[in-house]
Amino acid sequence: MKKFTLLAGALLLFAASGMAQEKEPTKILLVPEADAGKTVAFTLEAMSVIEAKCLGCHSPSGKSDKAKEKMQWEKLQTLSGADAMAKLDEILEVLDKGEMPPTKMVEKYPNMKLTEEESAKLHKWAEAALAKLE
Ligand code: HEC
Repeated sequence: MKKFTLLAGALLLFAASGMAQEKEPTKILLVPEADAGKTVAFTLEAMSVIEAKCLGCHSPSGKSDKAKEKMQWEKLQTLSGADAMAKLDEILEVLDKGEMPPTKMVEKYPNMKLTEEESAKLHKWAEAALAKLE
């Protein structure tokens, strides 16, 4: 049932964002790179991985309070300077250690596991975002 809830959450986000912007609903949630100035922004490549594998838990509709408390993607783009850099560091760390999505979820739903390609895409994005803040 957990999977269904996650999926429902994702659909809800899509539906909500679709109302405001028909063609590219994902953009309403995460600021595209070109529009972001000094804050953390998302490449389309990173967005697609985040939506598929991370957003279900790290967004306002997520079920786990702990996950929401630790990180929310929408909030990440409101951070700047040292706060933003610290979060990006955490993201790089969980990617390097293969800690996300959490093992429990991956055991239950193996298709939630990050592929090497997806992990590399997120890694590349986070490194570039960090470099811009430095
Ligand atoms: C099934 C829900 C779930 C999914 C999916 C998920 N996370 Fe998490 N995430 C959590 C939880 C729960 C925590 C808090 C873990 C803890 O504190 O022990 C967490 C914590 C984190 C943290 C903070 C780690 C720290 O050091 O405090 C980062 C960064 C993170 N997740 C990134 C990601 C990324 C990137 C993805 C997608 C690849 C992802 N998460 C997918 C549930 C999830």
